[in-house]
Amino acid sequence: MEMDLKNSVALITGATGNIGRAICEALGREGVTVIATDIMSAPATPMGSEYRQLDVTSENAWQDLIAAVRADHRRLDILINNAGIAPMDRLQDMSLADWRRCQTINVDGIFLGLKHAIDLMCETGPKRRGGSSIINIASGAADKPAAFSSAYCTSKAAVRMLTRTAAVEFGKLGYPVRVNSVHPGVVRSQMFDAIVERYSEITGGTPVDELHAAIKAGHPLGRYVEPEEVADVVVFLASGAARYVHGDALHIDGGYAAG
Ligand SMILES: NC(=O)c1ccc[n+]([C@@H]2O[C@H](COP(=O)([O-])OP(=O)(O)OC[C@H]3O[C@@H](n4cnc5c(N)ncnc54)[C@H](O)[C@@H]3O)[C@@H](O)[C@H]2O)c1
Repeated sequence: MEMDLKNSVALITGATGNIGRAICEALGREGVTVIATDIMSAPATPMGSEYRQLDVTSENAWQDLIAAVRADHRRLDILINNAGIAPMDRLQDMSLADWRRCQTINVDGIFLGLKHAIDLMCETGPKRRGGSSIINIASGAADKPAAFSSAYCTSKAAVRMLTRTAAVEFGKLGYPVRVNSVHPGVVRSQMFDAIVERYSEITGGTPVDELHAAIKAGHPLGRYVEPEEVADVVVFLASGAARYVHGDALHIDGGYAAG
């Protein structure tokens, strides 16, 4: 299978996180120039081909970043909207500020990425097989509700619909840009361990080990997802091999969504 990714330029948000790092490395191995971004000014270890600070909730920051990518690279082949947070609480205990922050980062952040990257990606699309590619990192939570995760599940369902809407709209407008969402099951990360701890607290001290065992059992293949497994699907969607995959939701979850 021909991936056709050499000489491509990719931008990824939330790049220093667990899944983000794996995606940067996987794209790097394919010869992609990876512009890694995250909210902090500089990561502890170097990553991607270059690193830039980006708070995905800032429209000005998106505008400045895309202008810099245009000036420096004159193309943008791949955009991976990966930044996300997952606040957890009983619905009646969740503050409006936490609810809004989740929607602002997880949904508005992707809207701003689409809005400001699309022109440059339209210019780049005709230069590559399968056009430019946008990949939004959603979650199994887009389809399946989870207790104490109302803000997160709602935000990820919105990411799925935003992806589908953009796909239909870009097609209607004849844009050479594909857009898809990927839906990982549970990937063990700092973010997820914090969720499990909080779940344990809210449920009056359910042992964390029991929670992990139950969550793994929810994945029919019986284990958590590895970040590299998400990255491999992202590489496929970014490539010419996925040239007719558009508006889709790809699950990487050992069957979690199927059950
Ligand atoms: N870990 C899982 O089990 C899991 C499962 C399904 C989907 N996801 C999704 O995958 C994506 C990556 O998650 P992860 O597991 O690597 O978590 P992570 O916490 O390791 O990474 C998230 C990254 O987003 C960044 N971020 C937060 N707010 C930001 C902002 N305003 N601007 C820019 N960056 C910001 C953080 O700094 C962090 O580097 C998220 O969208 C998450 O919802 C995770």
